[in-house]
Amino acid sequence: EKGGYEWFMLKEMDEQPQAVADTLLGRHSQTGQLQLDEMRLSDDELREVDRIVIIACGTASYAGLVAKYAIEHWTRIPCEVELASEFRYRDPILDKSTLVVAISQSGETMDTLMAIRYARQQKARVLSICNTNGSTIPRESDAVIYTHAGPEVAVASTKGFLSQVVACYLLALYLAQVKGTKYGDEIASILAEIDRVPAGIQRLLDEGDQVRKLAADLSGSRSILFLGRHVGYPVALEGALKLKELAYIHAEGFAAGELKHGPIALVEDGLPVFVVVPPKGRDQLQEKTISSIQEIRARGARTIVLAEDGDDDVVPYADHLIRLPKVPTLLQPLVATVPLQIFATEFADQLGHDVDQPRNLAKSVTVE
Ligand code: F6R
Repeated sequence: EKGGYEWFMLKEMDEQPQAVADTLLGRHSQTGQLQLDEMRLSDDELREVDRIVIIACGTASYAGLVAKYAIEHWTRIPCEVELASEFRYRDPILDKSTLVVAISQSGETMDTLMAIRYARQQKARVLSICNTNGSTIPRESDAVIYTHAGPEVAVASTKGFLSQVVACYLLALYLAQVKGTKYGDEIASILAEIDRVPAGIQRLLDEGDQVRKLAADLSGSRSILFLGRHVGYPVALEGALKLKELAYIHAEGFAAGELKHGPIALVEDGLPVFVVVPPKGRDQLQEKTISSIQEIRARGARTIVLAEDGDDDVVPYADHLIRLPKVPTLLQPLVATVPLQIFATEFADQLGHDVDQPRNLAKSVTVE
């Protein structure tokens, strides 16, 4: 039941700190040793993996895009992400050293199911990341990591997404442990950072009023853009998808670096644009993102900037500033997604839409 909430989606967003904690629960020791009980692939089989192909649909595919950055960085195994509906129709090259990772909240998505059947016929090993115990996709996989987020009723995925990202990190770190690309103490320190994430999510939920007010202010908009770089790019895609699904308005996510290759032509006076700013660090990601904000603002965009605590360089360019708790770059999607979920929910609510059951959509898509 809804437990006093107006929408299941609000309840499920509020459950996210617990969902993330439950995905981590019992899977690592203080020293960083990971234990994945449902990992039915042996360490020897995993050591043979020389390529990872993630397949999923919709929001789950964005969890996969986030995972690609972490998998390649921590394990040095090449990783690609593909929409399940495209994957098997292009004659993909697979063999038994390819690990296919299927991500699905429901475990019943037909496109994803058909893709893993195809992958297994080609002798690839299939690991699924799934929230629904005993559903078809994990039953047909060689191994499974359950996300333990609890049932997700609202059609639009929220806690499902965050727990998928966490499960992908656990998989990446497990592979790093087995392959020896990271030492135990490094893995332990990354896990300690992930353990702190639920508190950060809770803070953003507690501060939701600011985002709800913004959604009410902008609820007359017919188009909203989302920009991100690095792992902020899939966050932008997810923010846009949530708004399309729930509010039925035009919303698009872009890689900030792609702006000048086309999308900047869309920017006009008053257009709201969300920008996810990466933490300051190597690679100048933060500085490059700020220059994108300057470019769109100079063309009249109304900028809504998500930046971590203490990042003051963004302040002059933000019409609205949403503060994020400090986390390492790779973990930022786990916090940055939350205000975007709150925004889409409130925006749809303002328009009088059914937040839990958006038009034309179903919770599990069991047709191709
Ligand atoms: C978006 C959403 C969908 C699902 C997609 C995959 O909010 O809910 O895009 O993420 O249909 O569903 P699963 O994860 O059940 O395979």
